Amino acid sequence: MLRVAVLISGTGSNLRALLEAAADPGFPARVVVVGADRQADGFAHAEAFGIPTFLVPFREFETREEWGRELQAQLEVWSPDLVVLSGLMRLLPASVVDAWAPHLINTHPAYLPEFPGAHGVRDALAAGVAETGASVIVVDNGVDSGPILAQQRVPVLPGDTEHTLHERIKPVERRLLIEVVRAIAAGDLALPAPEPH
Ligand code: GAR
Repeated sequence: MLRVAVLISGTGSNLRALLEAAADPGFPARVVVVGADRQADGFAHAEAFGIPTFLVPFREFETREEWGRELQAQLEVWSPDLVVLSGLMRLLPASVVDAWAPHLINTHPAYLPEFPGAHGVRDALAAGVAETGASVIVVDNGVDSGPILAQQRVPVLPGDTEHTLHERIKPVERRLLIEVVRAIAAGDLALPAPEPH
């Protein structure tokens, strides 16, 4: 059984979908802990499923490295086989990336390498593209630049706002994330090592 730690910053809708999938006894992975860099609304989903949580508030540390050290210590308590960034809106320091990669994956609301970064949906809208998408990648020490594990196109519709487009992307992200976690757990997907930066 693959042990999965999930890190979030926000509402945790992708986390919720993974928890629901993992509640099926036939699913080959379990979420063992949910962590966050702030008091995230998504903790409620973890609590609803009886999953332990931890909080390492980014703002209480002087440097990203110090924050990363505490995050790493918290993760190690749970010995996860895989760490999933599911809406964690912080860049991890290299020490944490190097400790877990390639067993460290991220979901992103754009068709990478298009529109990396914190505003993937807003940037796609601003660029006026007809299609954007969703991606699941291995995390490396760049910004959304690691090996792509799964991705799918999503159309941009006339009148879309950042919110409506993001809400259309999220169900696709959820499906991709669950498929990727299932495939990793079943041994059907080997995680490629990221290129050094
Ligand atoms: C998701 O769309 C995720 O891909 C995105 O934040 C959202 C979190 O939603 N992450 C990034 O943009 C990372 N660069 P959720 O909290 O409802 O799952």
